[in-house]
Amino acid sequence: MMRVLGIETSCDETGVAVYDDEQGLLSHTLYSQVKLHADYGGVVPELASRDHVRKIVPLVKQALADANCTLDDIYGVAYTKGPGLVGALLVGACMGRALAYSWDKPAIGVHHMEGHLLAPMLEDDVPAFPFLALLVSGGHSMLVAVEGIGKYEVLGESVDDAAGEAFDKTAKLMGLDYPGGPRLAKLAAKGESGHYRFPRPMTDKPGLNFSFSGLKTFAANTIAAESDDEQTRANIALAFEEAVVDTLSIKCRRALKQTGYKNLVIAGGVSANTRLRSSLAEMMTSLGGKVYYPRGEFCTDNGAMIAYAGLQRLKAGQTDDLGVKGIPRWPLDTLPPV
Ligand code: KG4
Ligand code: ZN
Repeated sequence: MMRVLGIETSCDETGVAVYDDEQGLLSHTLYSQVKLHADYGGVVPELASRDHVRKIVPLVKQALADANCTLDDIYGVAYTKGPGLVGALLVGACMGRALAYSWDKPAIGVHHMEGHLLAPMLEDDVPAFPFLALLVSGGHSMLVAVEGIGKYEVLGESVDDAAGEAFDKTAKLMGLDYPGGPRLAKLAAKGESGHYRFPRPMTDKPGLNFSFSGLKTFAANTIAAESDDEQTRANIALAFEEAVVDTLSIKCRRALKQTGYKNLVIAGGVSANTRLRSSLAEMMTSLGGKVYYPRGEFCTDNGAMIAYAGLQRLKAGQTDDLGVKGIPRWPLDTLPPV
């Protein structure tokens, strides 16, 4: 039996969880700083760091209590080492390292996007390797060929805004509060299709990279040219959402063809989007494959995915030394295999 405490603090969510390799997820706690940052229209890094400091100890205590765990039951500690906001990362890294040191247990710094990538493994029906992963979050959009844990080839990524960032910026233009992605999706649900057509960026030439910053400009121009009534706004939101979903679907199809893989994993905050999920599910059915994604609460940032990813690496004997490190930029394909 191996049990790992996982800590996530890379952005504006403090998440702590306990994962057991035989019994699965034993507990998970999450505190979202959304209200704190809402007045500023986005995450304020210094406020984020301070709020993680305020919440981390009570959340660790709660996660251990909920899992009915004592110190003796914990094999090791996993914390998010990067990528993310450096101050926020350091809070989780200090906590993880300090606990491991005082408990005399091993600790490992986890790559945040590896956490997202492996989050579907927290569910009952898990994908078999190899698979294609579409990682779409607030900070990253990537297509990754996954042959095993740590065996990652990044096939394509965004050359400018990430998919979630495009949602958030467009939502802001439409006067929706931060975080705009889910709010824009809610507005789009009331929209009627066919009134506007946004471009599908970089789909007419070969390649697997994305570019989403042009959609935001297109949205700004459309909003300025049209009236401000609720139905028009909903129609514009829908047209934007359709363009993002369509673009991601086209690139997934292309990457599946290129790799020959039959399984698709979608993860990261934007994978909570219901239109994206159903579009990709439909596509995979037509291709004779299958799509896997985490439950809604594990699409966005959480401690469970960090505990899971950390456990896999600790199990393989990988640990980090005593240095407390936060790595703001960290290419996914530099990770060692397990
Ligand atoms: O993975 P995540 O929680 O944090 C990062 O690692 O960035 O992703 C957050 C992003 C935000 O941009 C948020 O607007 C977006 O995911 N998001 C959504 C939805 N839920 C969250 N975007 C579109 N539709 C949603 N339902
Ligand atoms: Zn994330």
